[in-house]
This record gives sequence, C-alpha cells and structure tokens, in this order.
Amino acid sequence: KNIALLAGGFTGEYEVSVNSAKNIAASLDASKYKVYTIYVNRDRWIHEAGHGVVDVDKNDFSITLDGEKIKFDFAFITIHGTPGEDGKIQGYLDMLGIPYNTCDATTSAITMNKAYTKTIVNGIHGLHTAHSMRLFEKDMHDVAIIAATLKFPLFIKPNNGGSSVGMSKVYNVAGLPDALKKAFHEDEQILVEEFIKGREFSIGIARLNGKITVLPATEILTTKDFFDYEAKYTSGVTKEITPADLPPAQVDLIADIVTEVYIRLNCKGMVRVDFILLEGTNDFYFIEINTTPGQSAASLIPQQVRAAGMDLGEFYGTLIDAVL
Ligand code: DAL
Ligand code: MG
Repeated sequence: KNIALLAGGFTGEYEVSVNSAKNIAASLDASKYKVYTIYVNRDRWIHEAGHGVVDVDKNDFSITLDGEKIKFDFAFITIHGTPGEDGKIQGYLDMLGIPYNTCDATTSAITMNKAYTKTIVNGIHGLHTAHSMRLFEKDMHDVAIIAATLKFPLFIKPNNGGSSVGMSKVYNVAGLPDALKKAFHEDEQILVEEFIKGREFSIGIARLNGKITVLPATEILTTKDFFDYEAKYTSGVTKEITPADLPPAQVDLIADIVTEVYIRLNCKGMVRVDFILLEGTNDFYFIEINTTPGQSAASLIPQQVRAAGMDLGEFYGTLIDAVL
C-alpha cells in the first residue's frame, strides 16, 4: 500500500511535525507500507526523492517519480496545527476519496478551537473547565475588564494554537498587554484562562481493532513555570512519568472521562487529551485535545504505547488498517 505521510504545515510546529513524521516512517513495517513523506508548505507540497524534489499534483494527490505516477491509498496526517489538525486537509482528502488516520474535517475544525471544544466537553461527569474569556483581535482590549472578570494567574493562549507557541502565564494586570500582543501575533482570537494549580496529565486514546483503548497516562513535571515550548522539546527540562503514579480510582476516573471526551467529540484514530488535577481534589480540569498529537521518538503517545506493551509500528499499522 502506498502511504502519503503528511508533515510540515503552516505554523510554528513545523519542526515538531517533521520529527513526528521521521519517527512514524521509521516505525511502520516497510514490507507492508510504502511510505512517501510529503512536506506541506504554503507554496509547495513536495516529496524529496533520492535525486531531487518533486511537487505533488494537488488535482489528484499524486506524485510522479521517474515518469511513473504514484497515487496514494492512504494519507497519514502528522501535521500539527493548520492545515492538518484543523480539518482543511481532511476536507481536501474527503473530496478526493482518500482515507486518512485522523478525526474528520468537522471534528478537527472544532477541536482545533479550544473555546468551542470546551463548550462540547462541558458537562461530562467528573470533568471541569477553567473560567475563561475569548477575545478577538478586532475588539478593544480593556485589561481592567479581564482583571475584573478572571482571577490571576492567567494563561493567555492563541485559541487555535499548539505546543504552547504564543502562550504566556501572567500574574497581574501589568503583564497582560505584552501577553495579549504575543498571542494575537499567532491568532486572531485568543483564550484567557484561569490557571488551575495541580498536577498535569496527558492521556492518549485510540480506537484499535474496533475497541476504544485508553493508553497509560503521563504525568508532566516541568522545572519551568509551565509546560512551554522549551519545556516540551528540550531534553532534561521536563520529567514525563508514564504510567503516571495515580491511585486506581483516579486511573479509572480519568479513563472514563477521556473515553467520554473521545465519544462526544466523535473522534477517530488516535488523539491525546491534556488535563490538570486540581490540588487536593478529585477534579480533573480539561485543558485541550490534540487530534494530531506529537509522534517524535520522545513524544508522549510513543511513550504511552510502549508503556502499554505495544509495538509502535504495529500501533500505527492498526490505525491505518482500521480505515483502509
Ligand atoms: N501539539 C503537539 C504536537 C502535541 O500535542 O503533541
Ligand atoms: Mg496541544
């Protein structure tokens, strides 16, 4: 089977995506899947062949190598952020009738938007969401109104972002203007959200052989103020513990919550959900869902797959075979 592995994208997570793609390509069973990595850039979608670069024909999603036209049976999307996590490429592939590994276009579009996602997961038993405000770039931003509405510290984040790009933690009103500017640099809408003090967890979930399977949770312990871009991708800055040290009752609770999130959002393939467990309580606060979670060798899902005793290449293969 010819697999197009889609990497790159239009955001600050380009490098992360390239590393995800390298790990997926290295893990997949080469005797079963012929993997062609496609780098998606704003101007060109390209495949790097041994002797040069070829452009993708976007009319039928094909490449031509040595005079031979190659069409793809399946697209494995590992672009983080637009256009691979927000439904755009999903919509394109739907129009061409090419199956892919991720959630559909609608779910991808909704889940890319942190504020919309919160409105859907609100009300899941045992799940909480932090108080927040959504701001648009065109609006006037009276920081006094933010300060009067929400309790500091606050997280300021691009509403459609990933990997904490453009994100700040702010302790007082004086810190707001710079943080808003930084976030608006990434997105026309931002989310201002109350900080929840507690332990941070991230949990992968996937439908494997027809059954929804919750992976072991990871606890994230960073030495930085929060799990920012540097903490996510610099080795040694953050300790990630998989499986997380949680009592069985909380393991069960979080598994039920993450399963309900997966079902309510009509997810497909593998996704990863991030939470904070509020200090001294049983209350899990939803941060966000990632529908093309990072897959580099050090990323959380690969850690969780290994902790579950599964082979990563087989795990990816199962996701492909389920849709092919
Ligand atoms: N957005 C990054 C890639 C993640 O969720 O893993
Ligand atoms: Mg994310």
